[in-house]
Amino acid sequence: MDTESGRPETGLMTSTEENTTARIVRPIAYGGPENLAVFGTPVPEPAAGGVVVEVRAAGVNPIDWKLYSGAFHAVADKNKTSAGVADDTLPALGLECAGVIAAVGSEVTGAKVGDEVLVYPVTAAYADYVTAPVTSLIPKPATVGWAEAGALLLAGTTAVHVLHAAGVGEGDTVLVHGGSGGVGLMAVQLAAARGATVIATAAERNHDLLRDLGAIPVAYGPGLLDRVRAAAPGGVTAAVDLAGTAEALDASLELVADRQRIASITGTERRSAAGIKVLGNGPGQDTGTEIRNAARAGLADRAGAGELRVVISAVYPLAEAAKAHEAGIAGHTPGKLVLVPQHS
Ligand SMILES: NC(=O)c1ccc[n+]([C@@H]2O[C@H](COP(=O)([O-])OP(=O)(O)OC[C@H]3O[C@@H](n4cnc5c(N)ncnc54)[C@H](OP(=O)(O)O)[C@@H]3O)[C@@H](O)[C@H]2O)c1
Repeated sequence: MDTESGRPETGLMTSTEENTTARIVRPIAYGGPENLAVFGTPVPEPAAGGVVVEVRAAGVNPIDWKLYSGAFHAVADKNKTSAGVADDTLPALGLECAGVIAAVGSEVTGAKVGDEVLVYPVTAAYADYVTAPVTSLIPKPATVGWAEAGALLLAGTTAVHVLHAAGVGEGDTVLVHGGSGGVGLMAVQLAAARGATVIATAAERNHDLLRDLGAIPVAYGPGLLDRVRAAAPGGVTAAVDLAGTAEALDASLELVADRQRIASITGTERRSAAGIKVLGNGPGQDTGTEIRNAARAGLADRAGAGELRVVISAVYPLAEAAKAHEAGIAGHTPGKLVLVPQHS
């Protein structure tokens, strides 16, 4: 315990049970990353229809810090379940990972100990071991590294969903707000692969990366409309908002004639009221569960074939999850943050 602030120390190792042989990172209170702690825990047993995966890399996503930030808890009285927080239980963290199957349940067929897999959706992947149903397993392409495999599917399936919702295809000119983020870099590549002209907003230092991945980069901030119009003299036919800013919504409404061709993965009341497509788990939003699940194998294939790059911003040891969250909350990490348990 930090005696001056009274807060728990980041990375605190707390043994909750006798004979613990694995670690899990969880928040111990609502708030910021200083509330993340490493707990000892037994290696889990598989359910009859599930597996235990030894985690090699867990993708870090903004939802992870939002879950214990208190933001969702504040709306808990209105809509606890759809906000992703059940009652007063602190959330488990880690919604995607990649690893090696360590145990299989008695009813499992088609998956075996030693198989290398991507795991999504899953809960509590900030850990040495995680349990998962077989329906969450996608074979890991041998050519994809662990960090990339662990960070591919949440952002990748979200990008597929948002491009589908905005109807992006051949001949379109699509504006991607937040093009250098985890979802943004996926959306840029997938939109270009669909034959669209892609204009992506990002800080100047990420413009070369966006060009490499097939986009025309533009800086966000004052003057955005002029820069986009200069980059797209024929007009913008669709927009995907991955940034969640007022600027992204205003520019999209100004540039795209058909509001059904504007899709956002960041829900705000203004977005819902604007008549655009809002995707996510909030009230009235489109979860896209089927399209996201169906997209997983294709994303793994593309990554395995070298057609889809998973850009890794930084890799942290599992015990340094708080540092990863601090970097993510600062809001300017290009691509994905990843936690690695580092098994011997
Ligand atoms: N609804 C869903 O299903 C769903 C799924 C996944 C994510 N999300 C949400 O979607 C958002 C993006 O997720 P993510 O994983 O891509 O996040 P991320 O990787 O943390 O995004 C970081 C990026 O945001 C960019 N950015 C910061 N300020 C910006 C601004 N004013 N205008 C444009 N871009 C700006 C930064 O670009 P620069 O470094 O170039 O400044 C940075 O690369 C988050 O709010 C997340 O919670 C929703």
